Amino acid sequence: MSLDQTKFDALLGKVVADLAAGYGGVMISLGDKLGLFRAMAGAGPLSSAEVARRAGCAERYVREWLNAQAAAGYVDYDPENVTYELTAEQALVFGDASSPAYFLPAWQVVASMWADEVKAIEAFRTGKGVAWGDHDQRLHCGVAGFYRNAYKGSLVPQWLPALDGVTTNLERGIRVADVGCGHGHSTILMAEAYPNSRFVGFDVHAGSVAAARANAQAAGVADRVRFEVARADDYPAEDYGLICFFDCLHDMGHPTAAAEHAAHALAEDGTVLLVEPFAHDRVEDNFTPVGRLYYSASTTMCCAHAISERGTHVLGAQAGEARLADIFAAAGFSRFRRALETPFNLVLEARP
Ligand SMILES: C[S@@+](CC[C@H](N)C(=O)[O-])C[C@H]1O[C@@H](n2cnc3c(N)ncnc32)[C@H](O)[C@@H]1O
Repeated sequence: MSLDQTKFDALLGKVVADLAAGYGGVMISLGDKLGLFRAMAGAGPLSSAEVARRAGCAERYVREWLNAQAAAGYVDYDPENVTYELTAEQALVFGDASSPAYFLPAWQVVASMWADEVKAIEAFRTGKGVAWGDHDQRLHCGVAGFYRNAYKGSLVPQWLPALDGVTTNLERGIRVADVGCGHGHSTILMAEAYPNSRFVGFDVHAGSVAAARANAQAAGVADRVRFEVARADDYPAEDYGLICFFDCLHDMGHPTAAAEHAAHALAEDGTVLLVEPFAHDRVEDNFTPVGRLYYSASTTMCCAHAISERGTHVLGAQAGEARLADIFAAAGFSRFRRALETPFNLVLEARP
């Protein structure tokens, strides 16, 4: 076989860039936890000594860290004045924990994937599953933190209004179930926006349910939100006006049973909101950075959890709209449509 030197060089360049990103992820996590990005946000050009002083860290470490960030293009460097600056754009991504573009918690997911590598190797060799709750806890916090800001920026202002008549019902007051609620950020955001409605989050992972309860207390919405440990196919059916699945249906080994249970638990004019990772239906159309991210997470987490449930499906995080529509059709829903999409999510609406 002849070697195409140009292709080979391009491949090596990509591999080195990926490797640098992997090392850089540890730097990002350190910068986040030590408050280095926050120390720079809005401060203009700073020397390494000033950054170190503001963050309460040792200058020599901070200088090396700053050079790693400058090499990544994550901070700007001025060689003449030997200063570093977090620009307005960089501050939105790295220095503002409430920004929808604040992806830093996602590096905790990567940390959990490394920590759980032995479990993944065992799973590949045996074909056995790994339940969500059996992963390193940085997975649970990382996913919750990663999605929380996205939900904050989109769920109430955009996603709920894209559903047919749902916001009017929420304002009037309905019962809402958030299935596979994780740390409950989606549930709490809805409860904050719609005080006349009552919300319950269900999840099989007791640790996540405990975290969700604490989050509801801290947000001051515990009067209208509760969280219970329950499976998606056996929580109490209480005539819900809205049943939500945020980034969890594809994790389930019994997604059709979950959809059937939702049909049974819905009020007569109720709606299912299904938020899933963005994906095209054809595998080859998902060979993008977002697709790569999701297929990777899906391998050791989403597929592994679905396999652990020994069910009917292992959808994976790139299931795509057509497969999800089939699940809801099989569960007896007559209407299914894409309400909207974002680079990270499909927002789908199902009605009986
Ligand atoms: C990727 S996390 C998403 C959590 C949360 N909805 C969010 O968007 O941040 C998937 C969640 O689904 C839960 N889950 C998986 N299978 C489940 C099942 N059969 N019934 C209820 N919850 C389930 C997991 O425990 C986990 O908390």
